[in-house]
Amino acid sequence: MSYPTTRLRRLRKSHLLRDFVAETELNAKDFVWPLFISDQVNARIPIESMPGIFQLSIDNALIEIGQAMEAGIRSVILFGIPEEKDAEATMAWADHGIIQRAIRKIKDTFGDDLLVIADTCLCEYMTHGHCGIVMEGRILNDPSVEVIARTAISQANAGADIIAPSDMMDGRVGIIRDCLDGEGFDDTPIMAYSAKYASSFYSPFRDAAVSAPSFGDRRSYQMDPRNSREALEEVAQDLEEGADIIMVKPAMAYQDIIRNVRELVDVPIAAYSVSGEYSMMKAAAQNGWIDEKAVVLETLTGIKRSGADIILTYHAVEAAKWLTELKS
Ligand code: PBG
Repeated sequence: MSYPTTRLRRLRKSHLLRDFVAETELNAKDFVWPLFISDQVNARIPIESMPGIFQLSIDNALIEIGQAMEAGIRSVILFGIPEEKDAEATMAWADHGIIQRAIRKIKDTFGDDLLVIADTCLCEYMTHGHCGIVMEGRILNDPSVEVIARTAISQANAGADIIAPSDMMDGRVGIIRDCLDGEGFDDTPIMAYSAKYASSFYSPFRDAAVSAPSFGDRRSYQMDPRNSREALEEVAQDLEEGADIIMVKPAMAYQDIIRNVRELVDVPIAAYSVSGEYSMMKAAAQNGWIDEKAVVLETLTGIKRSGADIILTYHAVEAAKWLTELKS
């Protein structure tokens, strides 16, 4: 009986050896922290389906962002909860809209120490909750793109560092790029939600952002979870149209997509670990069924190992603190 000369256990012998050869490393700078900004004064309204997450008024958001930055967070993505909604999403692009005011305030306060990413979509601002203009029950593509591009300009104008269209209309990246360039924002990057699936994991977000569609679903614009090659087509088109960073969403059930995209492109890839992923881990942890810190860090490591450079996660601040604990 001869033992193998190659013994993979040799490099697992001590924590120093394991760290020495580790292929994947999580850093707080990889994380983007999503925030729900409310138009109500003094708001800090807990979201029942997302324990630990709140709808925040601008002043409260400033406080929480300051604390997040102390934990090492360097970027946030903003979702607006407007006072008023209509069928044209007027408050998505109004200069005095909640997100435009929030971006100005946050950039005024934190300047170059924080990347402010604007989620560019219409659903939170529409009475019907769809991501585009609706006519006779159909979600129209080209008229929606016009409003989305107008929204992107207003966000860039307010000082957004990155524009992140999440609507999944065809051709929006190209139109947004043209419009931004035309307004002098040729140096504002676009992070495109390129492979965004019609996922059931978004439901806690829709409570948080009050953006559930009032009829039908999003399957005529978001991708079918059964498809993989189609994601590569979406990514290729967005790159062709000028996307700087591309996103896969959700993350956990779509790690094969992240990997496939990684093999296709060399631009940075972001993965969005969505509300349902957060809530599942929180709920299990609150029941004492899993060790939250260990499971969250393992999950985020898996997403990064799959090929993501950037991870949008509601656990961003906690994860940043846990990483510091581990490193100290
Ligand atoms: C808006 C948008 C959604 C999410 C991000 N941007 C919801 C949706 O498409 O219904 C989901 C994020 C999450 O679940 O955390 N288009």
